[in-house]
Amino acid sequence: MPLQHHLNLSSQGTSIKMLFTGYLTVVAIGYMMALVQILFTHGMADGKFGLSIDDIVYSYYGKRSGSILESKLNGSMKVMAPEAERLKIIQWVKKGADKDVYQTEIKPIINKRCVMCHSPASGMPVPDWTKDEEVFKRAEVDTGASFSSLTRVSHIHLFGIAFIFMFVGLIFSLASGVPKVLKATVIVMPYLFLIIDILSWWLTKLNPMFAWLTILGGGAMALSFAFMWVVSMYEMWIMPRRHPDYRDALLDE
Ligand code: HEC
Repeated sequence: MPLQHHLNLSSQGTSIKMLFTGYLTVVAIGYMMALVQILFTHGMADGKFGLSIDDIVYSYYGKRSGSILESKLNGSMKVMAPEAERLKIIQWVKKGADKDVYQTEIKPIINKRCVMCHSPASGMPVPDWTKDEEVFKRAEVDTGASFSSLTRVSHIHLFGIAFIFMFVGLIFSLASGVPKVLKATVIVMPYLFLIIDILSWWLTKLNPMFAWLTILGGGAMALSFAFMWVVSMYEMWIMPRRHPDYRDALLDE
């Protein structure tokens, strides 16, 4: 018979249980805050509340079909300028939205056709086209998250989340009522899916078809967190105390 430690959660003293419970509670609140934050940032990327595949594509890959300026001039702003002027603005966007050309050729059109609504004076809740920067921002093709922001967020997530799951996993490893294979699987799952999750951001940046991997990675991570959390809490506070020498022959040979 292999050497075994005889620690389990239900037999711990109150102090250790309080320590573990305090940690698990704070980490769970942190997890929920993170989910709310995801809803507010990525969740709104497609203009609709709630997280969808489109949100993930827009966040990491961007809306490569073009700039907002161009799509509006083909949409709700189409009627705002005569055809020749409208096409002139679109051409300017397509050629890379040069700032000098803007001053000489485009700004006069904007001033004549657009600023009556697109300025603070109109009182309308629309972007202010008297500020050139506001126009330039909407003339850029949206390529999603930058590589520098991806490296930053990636390493913060890898370090931070690995640390959280270190302690959640350690506490859960003292559970006595979970079959060995299931236990080992649940403990390693967050690490595996953390890597898949981070990798999926980079892959989605390159190709939008990988967006579903992000959902899979995040979902599996949350699921294993919830499982370890509930089992640990249950064994500490609800399950009857077990003698440290007690071994359940069936569950944990
Ligand atoms: C009659 C008023 C009016 C005029 C004139 C007008 N717009 Fe607009 N514009 C709006 C309103 C209202 C919205 C918000 C609703 C929408 O997006 O369709 C808007 C939105 C936009 C947006 C989207 C901004 C964003 O960030 O969501 C762009 C781009 C735009 N207009 C470009 C133009 C251009 C270019 C012209 C001139 C050729 C122009 N508009 C003329 C009223 C106007």
